[in-house]
Amino acid sequence: MDKILILDFGSQYTQLIARRVRELKVYAEIHPYAMTTADIRAFQPTALILSGSPASIYQPNAPKPDPEILSLGLPILGICYGLCVLTDLAGGQVALATHREYGPADVLVDRAEDLFAGLPRQLPVWMSHGDQVTHLPGTFRVLAHTDSSPFAAFRHQERPFFGVQFHPEVVHTAQGKAILSNFLFRIAKCRPDWTMRSFVESSVARIREQVGDGRLLCGLSGGVDSSVAAVLAHRAVGDRLTCVFVDNGLLRTNEAAQVVDTFGRHLGLRLVAVDATERFLAKLREVADPERKRKIIGAEFIAVFEEEARRLGKMDYLLQGTLYPDVIESVSVKGPSVTIKTHHNVGGLPEKMGFRLVEPLRELFKDEVREVGRELGLPDTVLWRQPFPGPGLAVRCVGDITRERLDLLRRADVIVEEEIRKAGLYRDIWQAFAVLLPVRTVGVMGDERTYEHVVAVRAVHSQDGMTADWVRLPYDLLATISSRIANEVKGVNRVVYDVSSKPPSTIEWE
Ligand code: XMP
Repeated sequence: MDKILILDFGSQYTQLIARRVRELKVYAEIHPYAMTTADIRAFQPTALILSGSPASIYQPNAPKPDPEILSLGLPILGICYGLCVLTDLAGGQVALATHREYGPADVLVDRAEDLFAGLPRQLPVWMSHGDQVTHLPGTFRVLAHTDSSPFAAFRHQERPFFGVQFHPEVVHTAQGKAILSNFLFRIAKCRPDWTMRSFVESSVARIREQVGDGRLLCGLSGGVDSSVAAVLAHRAVGDRLTCVFVDNGLLRTNEAAQVVDTFGRHLGLRLVAVDATERFLAKLREVADPERKRKIIGAEFIAVFEEEARRLGKMDYLLQGTLYPDVIESVSVKGPSVTIKTHHNVGGLPEKMGFRLVEPLRELFKDEVREVGRELGLPDTVLWRQPFPGPGLAVRCVGDITRERLDLLRRADVIVEEEIRKAGLYRDIWQAFAVLLPVRTVGVMGDERTYEHVVAVRAVHSQDGMTADWVRLPYDLLATISSRIANEVKGVNRVVYDVSSKPPSTIEWE
């Protein structure tokens, strides 16, 4: 299988490069820029891509790769900062540009060959750089320019080294995919054989090999990642996989029943469902502080899971739905990447219990996980489920958590979900949900004054949960949600819509 190695210099777009390459059915992995040539050789890539970076190549301590990468005999594509790296390695010069280019620009192609074969002469592209090549080494020749940048793309005279100043990986570069495709197929001669079907086959074989005749335990939450991992592993080892689903009493309407129905009944997984509602609610009594709530829920989850695991007898492996972005993050902490980890998962199990891990989705992006799930026959309701936090409704029930307050929140929340689905917006929205506030306000119903609860409705667009913006829901939809909640959920007389972005707010209220 052909593999592209992307050396990461810390650009916010590095992951996008890998995703675009994989969309073209060629496998790509991201590694820190300082990877040694010995490790690069061992990885056996078909070609290299050098990412962008927030740094400047002429800065002291600028991130630079091993200069030997030019001697590996591999095709190389340098993107933005990657182009400066190539120039620098080949003895050219880069300086601060007189015009910083940021945003859309037009590139004029001087040679419609190689990278630009089959493309129009004028290309709208996305630029984001403050540096510019001022002196091109004699061994390079220009392929394209812009009004302010004479060397917007170039190549080595004889060797397959290419540089582009713009970002072909972002959607604003309309022909970006065609340019990457030219690099992969024309220049690097890759075969497009990375598909989710081939992934399922090789992954099933790998799980069988790793687990042997051992037993595998999985904490199933009903979310996309753990569900796909479980069904994949089930295909590999059948009933030697046992899934434990913990109902913490903080789930949404019907959620626990649906998990049991889908995975136990329809998909035939060995599923142990534990109703631990009482335990969780007892521990959470009169706890209003958000961080304490999270800690209590995390610790209790581990306690319940451990008890169940012990009851099930000896288990050799723990299955986890870790995805590629989590793995890259931890790798690039050592490199210069500026990603910030804000996800607070209820974890810590493998370390504590000494399990060996099986992580069949470690190489995949979220959209690939969904495709694998589709290959495996998982229903859309699972594959397109919006993210739901580990501490569940506890962080949406602001203040004290009681059965009554949770019930009230559930009834409001299911209305939000129903109406969002009915409007055909469920998949477009990252998360949409109800929040119960710890205040009462005055209202009027018939001739009576009421003094009841307030529900906030939150709907956000986001790429990865790190930043978010509130969704401009149609007024009529908001009106329907509001009147249905006020009419159908006894105890609520006011509905408000949250119009805060992240930052400065967060997606959840706690
Ligand atoms: P915030 O509220 O921090 O949420 O903007 C970002 C994303 O993370 C989810 N979230 C959590 N997920 N445990 C989780 O597993 C948590 O404690 C937690 N808190 C927030 C949130 O739903 C959103 O998708």
